[in-house]
Amino acid sequence: MFDKQVYINRRLNLRKKIRSGLILITGNSESPMNYPKNTYRFRQDSNFLYFFGLDLPGFVGVIDIEEGKDCLYGNDFDLDDIIWMGPQPSVNELGQSVGIPCTHPMKELASTLQRAIRNGRKIHFLPQYRAENILMIDRLMGISPALVGQYASTELVKAVVSLRSIKEPVEIAELDKACDVGYLMHTTAMRLAKAGVPEQELVGAIEGIAIGKGYMTSFPIILSQNGETLHNHDHSQILTSGRMLLTDAGAEITSHYASDNTRTFPVDGKFTPVQKDIYSIVLDALNKGIELSKPGVTNQSIHLETAKVITAGLKNLGIMKGDVDEAVANGAHAMFFPHGLGHMMGLDVHDMEDLGENYVGYDDEISRIDQFGTAFLRLGRRLQSGFVLTVEPGIYFVPALIEKWKSEKINSSFINYDKAMEYIGFGGIRLEDDILITDNGSRILGAKRIPVTIEEIENIVGKG
Ligand code: GLY
Repeated sequence: MFDKQVYINRRLNLRKKIRSGLILITGNSESPMNYPKNTYRFRQDSNFLYFFGLDLPGFVGVIDIEEGKDCLYGNDFDLDDIIWMGPQPSVNELGQSVGIPCTHPMKELASTLQRAIRNGRKIHFLPQYRAENILMIDRLMGISPALVGQYASTELVKAVVSLRSIKEPVEIAELDKACDVGYLMHTTAMRLAKAGVPEQELVGAIEGIAIGKGYMTSFPIILSQNGETLHNHDHSQILTSGRMLLTDAGAEITSHYASDNTRTFPVDGKFTPVQKDIYSIVLDALNKGIELSKPGVTNQSIHLETAKVITAGLKNLGIMKGDVDEAVANGAHAMFFPHGLGHMMGLDVHDMEDLGENYVGYDDEISRIDQFGTAFLRLGRRLQSGFVLTVEPGIYFVPALIEKWKSEKINSSFINYDKAMEYIGFGGIRLEDDILITDNGSRILGAKRIPVTIEEIENIVGKG
């Protein structure tokens, strides 16, 4: 948790962006796995963490715009809780720790909201993704669960996105720390990889790095020799000589700031010429993406520039053909690069995705391009100093996609299908760094960049 002044300032900044009414920020409750007392690891709501800081279940924060007052609603632990959990602070002590002297038992929240409704005041709340909180809003405000999404406040969503998009120095320090753990996770996977090792053993080793520090992963680890499946959570294969291994993994540290990196490397620790060819194109696209990332540039244009690097590289290998700009304008690159270049990152690995991807990644100026591949770009708008985002180009040979496009002759003036078919079985390569947009450009987060050049990779893979 940061100093209480951080949360006081954030709530003050939020108030300045909302005209009137009450703002309700729901914290999360425990979520049961298989019976009520056997719960998943608790994960606080990121908006609640951002404005109210408390990493405990069972709280709701209320910001009253007209009264200029913030209150915390939650129940004190009773003796039974204390017997099982040890001594606990009171709700009032917790409130004071984040600059909120006004605390109430949860049962008083209903009357606060009902009074506001009777007085015709607007109650702003964010889109909800947990069933318990949807039901709570139904109970407190009489909005049927099916309609809760429609009643979420767009004014509040836009205000929260505008604040959370620009990372403060204290947040950047945490993101650097999360990326340092990511560095350890990825270099460990590289060191331990060799033919004969089960993929699952690598997953356990790198997840163990996060857990061993009291952290968690920022999303379920993606680690597979079938890297062409973009989010492959099947770790059942044994590392095999001649194949490449894709690892997409990150840490979520105690403060809940995340990292998210991808590296792909040969199981043997030495690239074959074919692997080197494809890898070099992805690395060029990654470096181009980072080089272009600076304030004032749209991430949509950077995505398209990296698509051109990929198209030009594949054209050099005879896999694509024709005019590069025209190929990208027609979306031909998306057969090999069928996803977006990156997303915001912060307290969520896909930062603020609960608030609506278009509010986070697009605006009145830049709207989503509705074309296969580019349509999956999560962040398209103009970059600003303080944004934290991923840059993650890739080249994949997805058999089902190649076969479909080939049979339907899609973009056949830009794709040499006979040549592309030769790469079926190659898998996929993605490379991903996390960057901070600075006043003049960008920098990679974390003390050291995870090995990425061919030489760096060959010097570490399989070295134990
Ligand atoms: N790196 C995993 C994801 O972006 O979903």
